[in-house]
This record gives sequence, structure tokens and C-alpha cells, in this order.
Amino acid sequence: MCGIVGYVGFRPAPEFLIDGLRRLEYRGYDSAGIAVQHCDEIGIRKRAGRVEELAKLVEANPVEGSVGIGHTRWATHGETTDINSHPHVGGNGEVVIVHNGVIENYVKLREQLQTLGYVFRTTTDSEIIAHMICHYWLEQIKLGEDPESHETCLKAIQLSVARFKGTYGVVAIFRDIPDVIFAARMGSPLVIGIGKIRNEHFIASDASPFVGYTNEVVYINDHEIAVITADRMDLHHQESGKTTPSIHTLDQVSSDIDLGDFEHYMLKEIFEQPEAIENCLRGRIDEESATARFGGLNLTPRELRQIDRIIFTACGTSWHAGLVGEYLFEEFARIPTEVEYASELRYRNPPMSEDTMVFAITQSGETADTLAAMRECKRKGHKSMAICNVVGSTIAREADGGIYLHAGPEIGVASTKAFTSQVTALTLLALYFGRIRDLSYPAGKRIIKMLRAMPELIQQTLACNDHVRDVAERYFGFNNYLYMGRLYNFPVALEGALKLKEISYIHAEGYPAAEMKHGPIALVDEQTPSVFVVPHGGIYPKVMSNLEEVKARRGPVIAIACEGDHRISDLADEVIFVPDVEEFLQPLVTSIPLQLLSYHVAVLRGCNVDRPRNLAKSVTVE
Ligand code: M6R
Repeated sequence: MCGIVGYVGFRPAPEFLIDGLRRLEYRGYDSAGIAVQHCDEIGIRKRAGRVEELAKLVEANPVEGSVGIGHTRWATHGETTDINSHPHVGGNGEVVIVHNGVIENYVKLREQLQTLGYVFRTTTDSEIIAHMICHYWLEQIKLGEDPESHETCLKAIQLSVARFKGTYGVVAIFRDIPDVIFAARMGSPLVIGIGKIRNEHFIASDASPFVGYTNEVVYINDHEIAVITADRMDLHHQESGKTTPSIHTLDQVSSDIDLGDFEHYMLKEIFEQPEAIENCLRGRIDEESATARFGGLNLTPRELRQIDRIIFTACGTSWHAGLVGEYLFEEFARIPTEVEYASELRYRNPPMSEDTMVFAITQSGETADTLAAMRECKRKGHKSMAICNVVGSTIAREADGGIYLHAGPEIGVASTKAFTSQVTALTLLALYFGRIRDLSYPAGKRIIKMLRAMPELIQQTLACNDHVRDVAERYFGFNNYLYMGRLYNFPVALEGALKLKEISYIHAEGYPAAEMKHGPIALVDEQTPSVFVVPHGGIYPKVMSNLEEVKARRGPVIAIACEGDHRISDLADEVIFVPDVEEFLQPLVTSIPLQLLSYHVAVLRGCNVDRPRNLAKSVTVE
């Protein structure tokens, strides 16, 4: 969470910073602020609310300079007020910082700094960073160090971060030391952009603010501190000292953030799904051997054959995709598979055989819990792979290998095309693992044929949009929803409920349909719609019985069913039809009307679809 941006060079910093914050706003939008250095002063502008509020403030009350830092906040400690917004000031204005992460021992450190005379203006954990750096900088000066030397500042930061427990990406400037920015990382991503035209450097939480400026980047690693001027950049490791930065060239720094003709990113991204699935499949089908192929697994088929257990670990929507993956892997590859919440796995100690393979599933590649769970598994020596969308993200870089989704940027906080792309990637993986085990050539051929048809079938599914909007108009006033599905559509029910609650703030619960009679059926009444995902398949009659149980209790029913299902219209109040596909591919079509339903309900309720309250796109805190 929280977006950080910084600049040192020759351009007017405020423009770059504010534009960069607009691109990073998906990381948090509780408040925004910038600090710009000019001569011996640092001008700070910050405000609760969106980046546009900050832009208005800066327009009315400009700051000038070509060195600066900026921040967009997802609040963890302290309310979302102007004063709690970053940047934060240390001492009497000697140091100004922005921070992403959580300093877990901040209460104790604050008390210590207060006894030293530091005055706290905010209720955040981040403010201690500014005071602590200032404190150690002044201590160094007392010891006779040159106040203006970069070395003195570096030492102050090194001493400070050694005191912090928790996570941080911190960027700092010093009032009296012009034209240099310092950055330290532990657990929260920071990437440096190397200017191409003239001497300049950029820094940000991800490379998106660098669009149009540079595609050459250096990732700061944990325990590293960067000292960045317009014409130089040095990295210092806390233990091993100065390190050589490795420069990465990004194929394309994504600039694909136009809304086009769509009113919201979420709707745009829902409609991008045929293309996203096409991109995920591209180059990964090996017709001749009736299997999938991947460039990045970094293991031989012989090594992969030895895998005797799979763990998918993820959060939120990616966890739901993992559940679909579990069913796919057990059906096609016959490998025992479990799906673990990353936030649990990181602290659990489940028995894992030597040949257990772990897949971290993540759109952003930055989710703190998923990263920590993957690291814990790697630490124990398990092969740890990533199924990830954002190229160059921390999880993608730290994994032993993996698969990129190629879904393109997902801006809306509600994950849509990443979910269907994750399911597609997992289907390809299950096919691949199956084919090096017991899945026959004809079975592989059949799966490939069906997979190839999916982009077109998803396109056809999207034609339900107008009908879904009509349904939403009739149902947007209800305050409780149940979502039911079974087998491959149980994760879809969970995902449908999550989509509805996160963007429309309606209470919704997803269940395996048969579980209903063990408790949730008590909720059924005329005011509680049930969304049944009931496409054709082996247990269609069973789900229909569950649906009838709801109708018998006067519960309104919205059904997602297959084209050609004549029986359903007599029972359900509303039916949204999707193409009839094999059961293992159903999540790719049945999830789409649920995405659209939550979208239209949220719009009708006047909610901020792309930036729902209390959420952020990238959850980089625990
Ligand atoms: O980037 P990740 O896939 O790791 O994110 C995991 C969750 O935070 C994310 O899926 C979240 O649940 C979405 N907002 C759901 O739409």
C-alpha cells in the first residue's frame, strides 16, 4: 500500500511528482503529498483525499524545485487527516521523509524520541522515521562528521533503520543537503529509474511513473540504501557495504492506463478479458505433444515429475483462483494440492514433504503476506514459483521460476481480468503437469481445443452486460446476498461475493451450495437474494435442489445458467445465461456475469467502483 515517488534532476519536480502519484494512486488514496527542495528550504504540500485535491492545492499554492518526493497514502496508523498525510518532517525540518510499510515498534521508539525532546505532530508510525534520521544525523555532527556530506546522511539512515522492526520503503531528503535523495528498503518495493535524456534519476514504488521518461531501472533490495543524485546512484547494503546496481531494461513500461470509452477501469478490464486470456495462452500451447509449454519454470520434466504435493498460496481473489487450481491439479495431474491463505501460511508450520512445490499466485506481485509465505517456503528449501501479472515485481523476481499472466495492467481495485487469467494459467499448468504424468495424448488434445475456444466464448458471455444491468436495477437495493456454487463453481461463488462486498459495501457470503442447510439457510428471506451458479454438469440436479430449497423459503434467486437450460427459467426469478462449456472451464464464463453484477450494483448505489473505500490495489502491509 502507499505509493512513493521521487525525482532529482533538471525538470520541475512538482509536475513529475503529481503525475507519478496519479499513476500510483491505485496503491492508496486516503491522502497525498509532496515535498520539494529549493535552495535551503523544503516546501511541503499535503492533503487528505485524492491526488486531484493535492493537485489543486499545489496549483493554488505552488512549490518550485527540481528535487522532490511524493506519497499517496493507504492509512495504517492514524486517521486520514491532512496532518497525518506524508511527507513527514523530522526534528525542526532538517529531514523530510515519505514511507510505505509499518514500523511495528513505533510506540517504544516514539517514547524514546520524545524523551530526547522530539515533538510529534501526527499519530502515524511513519513520523518516527523522520525524527530518528534527524536524531542520528545530529549525533553524527556532534561527533565531528561533516553535516553536508552524503556519508553522514547515509550513516544516520543506516543507524536509524537498524532500530526499526517491520517493513519500510523510505525516501528522504535533507533540508541543508541539496540535490540528493536517499532511499531505504525492507519489505516495501522501491525502484530507481535512470534518466535517458540528461542527468536525472527517478524513484517510485513501481515503474509506472517512469512512463515516457525511461525504461532502465534498478530494483532496490531489502537491506539496501540508495544515495541518488542527478548524475550518480550508489547502493549500500547494510552488511556488505557498497554493491553494484544491476540495471534492468523493462520491455515496456506500461502506459496503458487510458479509460478509452469506458466509464470505469473495472468495466474496461472486464471487457478486456477475451484479449487477456488470448495473451495468457499465446505461445504456451504445444499442439504436437498435446501439452502446454512454459519458458520460466526453470525445472526439467524429470524434476517436475518428482513433485508429490502442490501448495497454492495467495490472498483475496488470487486465493479463489488457487481454489480453482486445486480442483484442476487434482483432476488432471492427480497431485495432492492445497490452497493456503498466505497470511496463515507465513506463520503456520504445516508438514511439507521434500518434494512439495509452492506457487504464489498474485496479480501485483507485491502482496506482503504472499511474499512472506513464499519466502518462508523458500527458506525451508521448497521450490517456490510465482503466477504473477506485474513483470519485475518483488514476488516475480524472488521466485525460483514462474508464469506471467500477460493480462496487462489491472487498475481497478476489484480484480477481474487477473482472476480469469490466473485460472487460465492454472489450467495450462494442470495440463502440463498432467501430461508428464497420466493424462493421455487425446485428453491433452481435447483440453487444448477447448482452451483455444475460450477467448471467443468469453466474448460471447460479455453480451449479457445489458441484461445484467437490468437485473442490477431490480436488485441494487438489497443489503444482504448469498452466493452458491459447487465444485468448480464454489470458488466462483466466493469470488462473486467478494466482488459485490468490496465495491458496493453490500454484505455477501459465498458457500458451496450444499452447505446452505448447515446454517446459512437461516438467512434466507424475501430480502436476501441468492445468486446460484448452476451451469450444466454432473451435479446440476443437486444444485437445482439447493435452489428449490431457497425458493421454498421465498428467497429471491438470480441464476447463472447455461444457454439451453429451459428448466431454470421456471424456478429462478432472474436468469443470466452463459455459454455451455466443460465443467473445468466454467469459472472462465460464470465469473463474468458476477463481475458485471457487482459493477452495476455498485454504480447504481453511487459507489466509487475503481477506488472503493478502505481498500488499495496493492496490499504491501501485513
Ligand atoms: O495482487 P494480489 O493478487 O496478490 O492481491 C491479492 C488481493 O489483495 C486481491 O486479490 C484483492 O482481494 C482484490 N481487491 C479482490 O478484488
